[in-house]
Amino acid sequence: MKPCEVTVFGAGYVGLVTGACLADMGHRVEVLDVDRSKLETLAAGEVPFHEPGLADVIGRGVASGNLRFGHPDGLESCGEFVVVAVGTPPTTGGAADLRFVRSVVDLVAKRAAPGAVVIMKSTVPPGTGASLSETLSPVGVEYTSNPEFLREGSAVRDWFKADRIVLGGPEAAVERVAALYEGIDAPIVRCGIASAELIKYASNAFLATKISFANEIARLCDRLDADVDLVMHGVGLDPRIGPAFLKAGIGYGGSCFPKDTKALDYLSSLNGYDFHLLKAVIDVNKRMRLLPIMTLKDVLGDLRGKQIAVAGLTFKPNTDDIREAPALEIIDTLVADGAQVRGYDPVGVVDAGSSSFEQAATLAEAVRGANAVVIATEWPEIAHADWRELAAAMDEPRLVFDGRNCVDGDAVRAGGGNYVGVGRR
Ligand code: UGA
Repeated sequence: MKPCEVTVFGAGYVGLVTGACLADMGHRVEVLDVDRSKLETLAAGEVPFHEPGLADVIGRGVASGNLRFGHPDGLESCGEFVVVAVGTPPTTGGAADLRFVRSVVDLVAKRAAPGAVVIMKSTVPPGTGASLSETLSPVGVEYTSNPEFLREGSAVRDWFKADRIVLGGPEAAVERVAALYEGIDAPIVRCGIASAELIKYASNAFLATKISFANEIARLCDRLDADVDLVMHGVGLDPRIGPAFLKAGIGYGGSCFPKDTKALDYLSSLNGYDFHLLKAVIDVNKRMRLLPIMTLKDVLGDLRGKQIAVAGLTFKPNTDDIREAPALEIIDTLVADGAQVRGYDPVGVVDAGSSSFEQAATLAEAVRGANAVVIATEWPEIAHADWRELAAAMDEPRLVFDGRNCVDGDAVRAGGGNYVGVGRR
């Protein structure tokens, strides 16, 4: 396909990865963001967040001249394709806040030439596309919904090895967007805008359901002397179920699952439907975050003055993202209960000014002298540490609560520690 001119709004995970990967595929891309400090970081050749492989793709794009960055204030005209990848944060009521999406679409209506196609990558509730089309249609701009399924930590790989491309919108516009993806070997789901929008929410809600289901089985395993890792392995071998997203632990976090499950629940209520299953998924996830606190209280009694280490702060490994990270909620509760908390993370650093806990430079420093450790993120460095030595350096009762079932419990016990996993007696 001939190279196309693409304007991308938003230099977050989705926008930056989309822009850089499209540039790598030969298209001419300008990525715009309102955050000038982010633009300075990018101009200096750095990536504003930790994402494996992204720096190389951006570097290639900039060197070839295919990838540029700018501020929307300087925008005179848009490319023939306009990707919208700005945030849709949750409002207090749980709905998606569409302010940023709407202001981008208003600007696009002024700057795009007739015939341009908007590609909505931000996660927006079903019905949004129909309403945004009302702004774009009068100026001859087409609207398509093209939800993104990439995961933080493997975003570049997910782009080039996508398992599906979902395109919702008028047929001719959908075919033009499909051509933009030429070279990516993935099935294309062509559908209406509302269906495309719902595919995104339903996918995230289903993955969250798998996690909460595994966590419910874990709670049962604790009572039955069964091992959840083995149980879910056995369950996941059924191809109708599949092995992915069945790992029990202290629950899902991040900028997507918590927000999207709540938004879908809100949208359901708004449309007169009470989504019972989704409510239970959200509730189970909330309870999983309380499990380490309850276990610590069972073993340590009153937490006042106790030294607690929290290993791993990010919501999952291979990212520096701490949004909705279970670790932070657990730390807040521990601190409120009077514990002295020392946290450690290989990459994620919480702004020291706003944090209520001490941050250690190494895992050993965080764990030394602690009465208990909560493992909140399965970073390889944490999972494969010498837990015999670490447990031996702790103070009584040397409790290691493994919230991600990633550590060898025998090693902890060999160091004189007490090991408790999730559904893993
Ligand atoms: C998720 C989806 O996986 C992506 O497909 C989607 O594009 C993205 O949201 C989005 O909507 O933008 P992400 O939030 O990057 O991606 O992270 P995941 O790898 O899905 O993990 C989410 C959370 O679930 C993490 O806290 C992780 O620890 C937890 N998890 C995951 C489990 O507790 N158990 C599992 O088996 C898998």
